[in-house]
Amino acid sequence: MSSAPTTHTVIEPKVLYFGTPVTVISSLNPDGTTNIAPISSSWYLGHTVVLGIGTDGQTLPNLARERSCVINLPAAEHQQAVERLAPLTGCDPVPPVKRQQYRYEPDKFTAAGLTCTPSEFVRPARVAEFPVHLEATVAAIHEPADDNFAIVEARVVRVHVATDLVIPGTQYVDTNHWRPLMYVFRHYFELGRRRGRNFRADQ
Ligand SMILES: Cc1cc2nc3c(=O)[nH]c(=O)nc-3n(C[C@H](O)[C@H](O)[C@H](O)COP(=O)(O)O)c2cc1C
Repeated sequence: MSSAPTTHTVIEPKVLYFGTPVTVISSLNPDGTTNIAPISSSWYLGHTVVLGIGTDGQTLPNLARERSCVINLPAAEHQQAVERLAPLTGCDPVPPVKRQQYRYEPDKFTAAGLTCTPSEFVRPARVAEFPVHLEATVAAIHEPADDNFAIVEARVVRVHVATDLVIPGTQYVDTNHWRPLMYVFRHYFELGRRRGRNFRADQ
């Protein structure tokens, strides 16, 4: 049964972050080390991941040069590690537009208390503590002329899921235990209770 129509107010919000999971993108720096950056602008079409990446950081040039990345998905319990990454950039010097709020950090793993683990198919490393790693190749980068972000299409070539989140003997993630870290208007959340299932759900 639908609820009653509600009244609406026209507003002009600064951002439209109504709610997406946090991901942390691993990309390869020119010196062969891995840069990691929190991203909330991501969504999935089959095995393609679409990422919104700012043009004022280190991640975009790394993706353009190396054409691969890892999309690491933290759980809700990793919020503090994500927030430790938040004021850091792999850009040296820090671009003027970021100078007030960000500092250059060449080793973001150590700065955030996270562990680097090698990938299987791509050169950027994975974040060992996070429960999901999607190794991916970069298929296309679209740079809108007037905007300060690019739209990156990444094709997933390998999926790693923490063993205790996999339903034993299947290819399914156990939704009873997967707790993604969500980002809503610059605040972190975890999911509440299950509201039901889609008519096409297998599990
Ligand atoms: C929770 C969270 C979500 C973010 N989402 C995005 C995003 O979707 N796209 C983006 O370009 N930057 C996003 N940022 C900002 C980047 O993490 C930030 O610009 C960082 O300095 C990028 O690192 P880099 O310069 O080493 O690439 C987000 C930051 C946080 C903490």
